[in-house]
Amino acid sequence: MTRDEAVSILTKKDQMHVMKGFDDLSEAQQQALLAQIEALDWDVLALAGKSEVVAKGEISPLESLTLDEIEERRAEYRDAGQDVIRAGKVGAVLLAGGMGTRLGSDRPKGELNVGLTRELFIFQCLIQNLMHVTTEVGAFVPLYIMTSEKNDADTRAFFAEHQYFGYPESYVKFFIQDMAAAVDYNGKLLMEEPGRLATSPNGNGGWFSSLARAGLLEDIHKRGVEWLNIFAVDNVLQKIADPVFIGATVLHGGDCGSKVVRKANPEEKVGVMCREDGKPSIVEYYELSEEMANERDAKGNLVYGFGVILNYIFKVSRLEAIMDEKMPTHVVEKKINHIDENGNLVKPETPNGYKFESLAVDMIKLMEHCVPFEVVREHEFAPIKNLHGVDSLDTARELLQQNGVVL
Ligand code: UTP
Repeated sequence: MTRDEAVSILTKKDQMHVMKGFDDLSEAQQQALLAQIEALDWDVLALAGKSEVVAKGEISPLESLTLDEIEERRAEYRDAGQDVIRAGKVGAVLLAGGMGTRLGSDRPKGELNVGLTRELFIFQCLIQNLMHVTTEVGAFVPLYIMTSEKNDADTRAFFAEHQYFGYPESYVKFFIQDMAAAVDYNGKLLMEEPGRLATSPNGNGGWFSSLARAGLLEDIHKRGVEWLNIFAVDNVLQKIADPVFIGATVLHGGDCGSKVVRKANPEEKVGVMCREDGKPSIVEYYELSEEMANERDAKGNLVYGFGVILNYIFKVSRLEAIMDEKMPTHVVEKKINHIDENGNLVKPETPNGYKFESLAVDMIKLMEHCVPFEVVREHEFAPIKNLHGVDSLDTARELLQQNGVVL
């Protein structure tokens, strides 16, 4: 894109502040800014300030495998899952590209130390959880770690410095997700520094296309990986490559499986499994009518009662088939570092603008058959979103201790 073309589009979009100081930039900086401007998706930016724009189809219930049902067939599921893992058909994908802005640290979230009397980092917890399985099964699981431009170098360095927490390095590969521009509450593009748009990771929904773009599909095929288990960085209790979960998904003919927990109450703010126009899907709490949120079956259980915890497995062949499908854009309010009109760096204490994200939950709708799989919340769900309060370092520490982890 030339300078004139940039000026023309920015004038039309009322974003000319982006060109402030353009002439003072080096040739390389100018080219970099023009490339950033060229890459902007104006349709997405136009969503600023508009709340959820994703229209929902017709919602109906989707049954989950319950704890009782799983218990009855546990050995069968576990054996099937172990066989699949032992055959090298399972890979794991750690979604660690987020900025963790609610924690308020500039470091990758996985570097957070949850230990009290010793060091125990989030990344370490996750690797240890994975190693429970690989030790039990007697085979390693390739681990693909998604980072972003902002935290890639730090994340790689941290794993190297800690010798991958005992996991074989040859089984760990990193890849970088895409970034997207962010705007303030008036829809104005924010600048990170003079001549550079403020960008942030574009949500966890692009994980598979980013992995493919990084050339890792080749690795996946070479190793014969047929299933990918994706999981969030911040749930320190979760089981990764859980053989029982994998076995259940395979035996029930799913092309995807989703770990779920029973909702604590009808109002709980979690997305729940459902069908949407007959396809498996997830409906967010704010999209459910009060009547639906309170609807109960003959046994008195909530009909929309199973919340997702960002731990899914997907069949690779299905992921490849849907890779080019357009994902909906979610507009989220976040704290976005930027420079003010005088060029001073601002690190806001409260949200100051919008980011545009695609989300992994929206992939479920692109699957044919998803197997929701109930787990015990207190054993498998300890997300660290904040330092204190709900879903925090404090609550996660308590849950880790309840589960026998020495902090
Ligand atoms: P969150 O929704 O908690 O977002 O991510 P976040 O960016 O980490 O944290 P806040 O909201 O700014 O405090 C859920 C999971 O998805 C990953 C996160 O790393 C976490 O594992 N994620 C999120 C990505 O990998 N990329 C993204 O762009 C966003």
